[in-house]
Amino acid sequence: MKKLSVKLGILFFLIIFGLITFMFFFLHKGIAESRVEEELKALKARGNSHSAILEKHFSIETIDHVVLMESESMTDVIITDKNGNVLGSSSDTASFEKYLRIPSSSISAEGEIVEDNWKDEPYIATISPIEVNGQLAAYVFMFENTASVHSLIQGLNDHFFLAGWISVCLTIIIIIFLSRGITKPLLKMKEATSQISKGQFSVSLPIASNDELGDLAKSIELLATDLNYLKQERNEFLASISHELRTPLTYIKGYADIVQKRKLPDEEREKYLKIIVEETNRLSELIKELFNLAKIDQNSFVIHKECIDLKLFFKKMEQKLSLAFQEKKINFELLCPENTLIQADPLRLEQIILNLLDNSIKYSQAGAKIELKAWKNKKSIHISVLDNGKGIPEKEIPLIFNRFYRVEKSRTRSLGGTGLGLAIVKELVQAHGAEIMVNSQENVGTEIELIFKGELKR
Ligand SMILES: Nc1ncnc2c1ncn2[C@@H]1O[C@H](COP(=O)(O)OP(=O)(O)OP(=O)(O)O)[C@@H](O)[C@H]1O
Ligand SMILES: [Mg+2]
Repeated sequence: MKKLSVKLGILFFLIIFGLITFMFFFLHKGIAESRVEEELKALKARGNSHSAILEKHFSIETIDHVVLMESESMTDVIITDKNGNVLGSSSDTASFEKYLRIPSSSISAEGEIVEDNWKDEPYIATISPIEVNGQLAAYVFMFENTASVHSLIQGLNDHFFLAGWISVCLTIIIIIFLSRGITKPLLKMKEATSQISKGQFSVSLPIASNDELGDLAKSIELLATDLNYLKQERNEFLASISHELRTPLTYIKGYADIVQKRKLPDEEREKYLKIIVEETNRLSELIKELFNLAKIDQNSFVIHKECIDLKLFFKKMEQKLSLAFQEKKINFELLCPENTLIQADPLRLEQIILNLLDNSIKYSQAGAKIELKAWKNKKSIHISVLDNGKGIPEKEIPLIFNRFYRVEKSRTRSLGGTGLGLAIVKELVQAHGAEIMVNSQENVGTEIELIFKGELKR
């Protein structure tokens, strides 16, 4: 984690530092050039104004006057005749000689720049012509020591250096805070996940931000609660499974012991053996159903959807169940319009409906009424199994889909239920992308409704 903040910091720093250097380089160059240009312009303007005066009064006195004025200023002047002979100079001409080149072609009245290489030369220089009566009479050379330009640029450099330092320091401070801000919540999340892996699921992460980090924190919390739930569910499941397996095994062992140890009359022996067989069947049924559930859980089980005509489908099931209905004198009614089509796996759908009908038969008195209905809605197909049996107490309704959940343990035990039927039904219904709803009232009856979205027309 620490490494991440260092990496981020260095990366940010290099990028920002590069940008700053790049920007400063161009800014500096631009400012320096325009400053020198201004100096040259000012120098030329000064030369031009001297030449304007001299054009009016071209005499020794005026030349001396101009020279005297310049001797007190930062700049220097040299006035030559048109052949380059010095007429007047504000200081020693020796250091200016190399600039006193008389141009071969005529120069404009605006003057021209003679030397602008401020970096290497000791002076920058301009030239302005003096015309008397329309004839070129003399030249005014203006000079400015580049030392002043250099000190100007030096000052600029100092400013840039200071600004550079300040921005580098600010960048470093900002980067430190920024990378802390990013890595701190990450560190917390790392701690939280290692807590989770140790089995401590009650982690709470302060979700301050609304960004990806906040999302990550939320996901981690969600993961923790999910894991907690799964762990609890697994514990309950294991507890109930061992209970469910133990009970029939105790019966089997008990009766087997009796049959083995005592000399029993044939009739009684037969009775005990029958119980043993029944309990063994129950056990193998239980294990088969558990295996089924495990397959659904793993998603290793595939739904092969087909187009099913519900009316024909239910008719066939009614025939299969007719014996069970007769035994309990059930008054069964099938309400399904012709041509009600559905996309479902026929084997699984049969398993679902059989389970629901089996419950309705099991938890209803003899002579009860059971209805199996199907109807079309705009965008869905509904199937419902309705009975007027014992019903389910309201507060137990949410629990009946749990594995091994039975409303009255003793009652259902005598009926041979395992409490897995509805758990399997729910998984199968969900595998179809459908919904299941329970509507039940104690001592009135139960209706279980399945909703399949999106029907199909043949
Ligand atoms: N139609 C119904 N009327 C009244 N109670 C019901 C009805 N259907 C389910 N129940 C209650 O819900 C419980 C769970 O049903 P489920 O089908 O999961 O288990 P089971 O019928 O006991 O066992 P299995 O179906 O595995 O043989 C039942 O034990 C019963 O108490
Ligand atoms: Mg059942």
